[in-house]
Amino acid sequence: IFRNKLEFFAAAKVSSSFPPPNLPEIAFAGRSNVGKSSLLNSLTRQWGVVRVSDKPGLTQTINFFKLGSKLCLVDLPGYGFAYAKEEVKEAWEDLVKEYVSTRVGLRRVCLLIDTKWGMKPRDHELIELMERSQTKYQICLTKTDVVFPIDVARRAMQIEESLKENKSLVQPVMMVSSKTGAGIRSLRTVLSKIARF
Ligand code: GTP
Ligand code: MG
Repeated sequence: IFRNKLEFFAAAKVSSSFPPPNLPEIAFAGRSNVGKSSLLNSLTRQWGVVRVSDKPGLTQTINFFKLGSKLCLVDLPGYGFAYAKEEVKEAWEDLVKEYVSTRVGLRRVCLLIDTKWGMKPRDHELIELMERSQTKYQICLTKTDVVFPIDVARRAMQIEESLKENKSLVQPVMMVSSKTGAGIRSLRTVLSKIARF
C-alpha cells in the first residue's frame, strides 16, 4: 500500500474546505515538532511531498494526501507551538479538534509523542475527544533514535499504563524513528490494514 504514489490534493484552514471523504483516512496528530511530517515521508519513502522543518509550526493547514486510490493520509498542524500568536494557535487547535471529531471516513489517528518528552495535557485532551467521538487512535512514540532503548521501553510502558482505564479505542503503542527507519515497517503493516483494497 505504501508503495503507491503519494499526491498532495488539498489544504484546509477551515472545515468547509475539507475535501469530500472518498477514501479511508489516517491522520497524524501531535504537538508541534514531534515529527508528523517526517513520519509521513518515511512511511511512504517519498521525500519532498510533505514538508519538514526545524522550525516548529511549519504545518499550518490540514494537508490531505492521496496514496494511490487506496488511502488518504492527513498531516495535521501541531498544537502547543509556543511562539505562534495566541489567536493563530487557537484557530489551529479548534480546526484539529473539529476535524478529529467530525470527519467522516477517519479510520485512525496516529497520535505522535516525542519519546524524550512523553505525553502532555494537550495530548490527553485530544485522547478524550477521540474517545468521545468514537475515533480509533494509536500512540506512536517518535525520535526513538535520540534516547536509549531502555528509555524507549520505559516510556512505552508508562504510556500504556496511563491509558489503561476507560479507553476503549486505543490501539497498541508503536515506536518509530523517521531518521533510522526503526519501527517504520511495523507501522506500515498496521496501517495498511485500513486501506481500501
Ligand atoms: P509541525 O509541522 O511544526 O507540527 O512539526 P512536525 O510534527 O510535522 O515535525 P517535522 O516532521 O517537521 O520534524 C520536526 C523536526 O524533527 C525536524 O528537524 C526533523 O528533522 C526532526 N525529526 C523528525 N523525526 C525525527 C526522528 O525520527 N529522529 C530525529 N532525530 N529527528 C527527527
Ligand atoms: Mg509538520
